[in-house]
Amino acid sequence: MNTLIAPAPGYSKITLLREIYYGFRPNKPNFTPDDYPDLTGKTAIVTGCNTGIGKHSLELLYQKNCNVIGIVRSQSKGDEARDDIVNNNPESKGTITIVSGCDYMDLSKIPAVGLKIKEVLGTKALNIIIHNAGLMAPNNEGTSFQGYEAMFQTNVLGPQLLQHFIDPLFLKNDDTSLKRIVWVSSGAHLLAFNTYGINWEDPLFENSPTKERPNNNVLYGQSKAANIYQAKAWYEENKNICEEIGCVSVSCYPGNLKTDLQRGWGFSMTLAKYLMWDGVYGAYSELYGALSPTLKPQDSGAYIVPFGEIHDPREDIKLGLTNGVAIKLWEFVESKISPYF
Ligand SMILES: NC(=O)c1ccc[n+]([C@@H]2O[C@H](COP(=O)([O-])OP(=O)(O)OC[C@H]3O[C@@H](n4cnc5c(N)ncnc54)[C@H](OP(=O)(O)O)[C@@H]3O)[C@@H](O)[C@H]2O)c1
Repeated sequence: MNTLIAPAPGYSKITLLREIYYGFRPNKPNFTPDDYPDLTGKTAIVTGCNTGIGKHSLELLYQKNCNVIGIVRSQSKGDEARDDIVNNNPESKGTITIVSGCDYMDLSKIPAVGLKIKEVLGTKALNIIIHNAGLMAPNNEGTSFQGYEAMFQTNVLGPQLLQHFIDPLFLKNDDTSLKRIVWVSSGAHLLAFNTYGINWEDPLFENSPTKERPNNNVLYGQSKAANIYQAKAWYEENKNICEEIGCVSVSCYPGNLKTDLQRGWGFSMTLAKYLMWDGVYGAYSELYGALSPTLKPQDSGAYIVPFGEIHDPREDIKLGLTNGVAIKLWEFVESKISPYF
């Protein structure tokens, strides 16, 4: 893993600061629920939909009559979110089905989730997948059941593994009017390692005790840089069929939003919340990726920023999208998750 395709270029600190500032003071959203199409007969998957941005995305899709499969860890939290949304939107003709047990901290649980999704979907077409579930503040020692760094496993290995079970359901010549995947990233990728965002010698910190790892900002940033690569690499891996059926795969930084994400990060985050936006704005960013008619298959790999615009990611990571780094990261993740699919 330590032989890079080309040395990572440097990046402008001024551009970096400008992008960090933009995250707190973004342009107003231009693509909001009034612009969304009616989604009757369409099916979407949203992971981590019991709270935060995922719950907002689920609600906005449901309001447009979408059938949504909500993926959660805990059945009771999922049911509570579903009941809330259904009660608040009695006019919707959509459906919400909760699939629980999806805890990315233990990869061995994911195949069963894949099977349940297949059962729920039946013969219906699958139109949208939003890989929204994510972890920023590990509340254990920061290591997964498999012994990997917790944020990389939750934010990167888990979604890529789940996508393996979704691929055969999604990559079909059925309802090709809408085929989207959104890999939820973050502006925190700007804080990732300066070697294309990834600590190539040991991305999962398998060989480092928690106390010897870099701080959580850098580790979270690494996982979110990987999400940017996943959007592009998934498309490259499936390019022929994607072009045939019109799939778009993008990454998305939803914004700096008041959600449960910052639980566990203490007083500094409590203060930062004064600069943050309501969680629904994050859903506007995600649903720009899922629904905007301006996005085409050849836009795959684009990095969406708040609240529905396309910017470049950090310069080295932008280069990594086209010089083989994204595929290298994808293949590294494959090597770790292959025992589970
Ligand atoms: N909020 C922000 O400012 C911000 C900024 C940039 C990017 N993002 C990204 O946006 C996405 C949503 O974040 P949010 O702000 O809505 O956070 P949130 O309120 O904390 O919600 C996170 C969701 O992910 C789920 N999750 C956490 N750990 C998981 C695991 N091990 N396996 C499966 N699901 C897990 C949570 O389930 P439980 O409720 O069961 O824990 C919850 O449903 C994340 O990918 C995050 O990185 C957020």
